[in-house]
Amino acid sequence: MTTTSPGASGAVAPAVEIAGVTKTFGGLTAVSDIHIEVARQSIYGILGPNGAGKTTVLNMISGFIAPDSGSISVFGDEVTRMPPHRIARHGVARTYQNIRLFGGMTVLETVVAGAYMRRSSTIGGALLLSPGERRERQRVRERAQALLEQVGVRSAHDELAETLSYGDQRRVEIARALATEPQVLLLDEPTAGMNDAESQEIGELLLQLQASGLTLILIEHNMRLVEEFCESVSVMNSGVMLAQGTPSWCLEQDDVKEAYFGKSSDAARIATLRRARRGSSGS
Ligand SMILES: Nc1ncnc2c1ncn2[C@@H]1O[C@H](COP(=O)(O)OP(=O)(O)OP(=O)(O)O)[C@@H](O)[C@H]1O
Ligand SMILES: [Mg+2]
Repeated sequence: MTTTSPGASGAVAPAVEIAGVTKTFGGLTAVSDIHIEVARQSIYGILGPNGAGKTTVLNMISGFIAPDSGSISVFGDEVTRMPPHRIARHGVARTYQNIRLFGGMTVLETVVAGAYMRRSSTIGGALLLSPGERRERQRVRERAQALLEQVGVRSAHDELAETLSYGDQRRVEIARALATEPQVLLLDEPTAGMNDAESQEIGELLLQLQASGLTLILIEHNMRLVEEFCESVSVMNSGVMLAQGTPSWCLEQDDVKEAYFGKSSDAARIATLRRARRGSSGS
């Protein structure tokens, strides 16, 4: 049974609504009858240990996997079982847990390609270089450069994307997703492979994006980041929803501590992280 924090109310139409969604793979129930409401322009976290079903949830929101049952809506429009490109037209973009950059493309080209996923003009059309296309191409390149700056990739725009550090590749993926001009951005472990300072920068980026109107849904293992930047979270374990509410409230729940963090040493680690966060405010 899901434990829900007091005061969580769904009065405003959500950006994303997942209602009674189940997904099985063979005999394995990866996601079992879950309900999630993500308020517009919020930063929402999906937490849980390995194999909890978190990525499967993102895959279903973005249309990469169809649920067996239940429904998914984006800004009130049902998108259940739509293919990814149609869900993208509803304003949903994503990044991947295992980075998926296009081979052989520079950093800038990667983000430009993201922009063309959304545009009526094609890359082929742009290559013909009619005056209109030339202006458009220049505009897209400038916007891609600005997005790269915004996500913190300030140089190496002409390097092959796959030669960057993992942290920078994740940033390039975020820029590519932003180039599609989404309203909802799904981030699968955006800070994996990043140190504390880099993770903090991603957190600040999330706030900027939120302020510009985006709704952000992220899968994240860094509890410090989650507690600082996520307003609400869902905690899953083995496909089942354990708790929903504010991060600090959810992390206090006994079944979350036991099932998610397991060993008492991990519970102690959370406590340490929280103390560190309070101690470092302002730094
Ligand atoms: N395409 C698939 N085919 C078969 N099984 C899958 C598939 N995708 C996920 N699973 C299984 O479903 C369960 C949930 O996987 P999922 O990737 O959603 O977990 P997760 O919470 O993202 O875990 P992690 O933190 O390790 O990324 C796992 O047992 C996984 O092996
Ligand atoms: Mg995952």
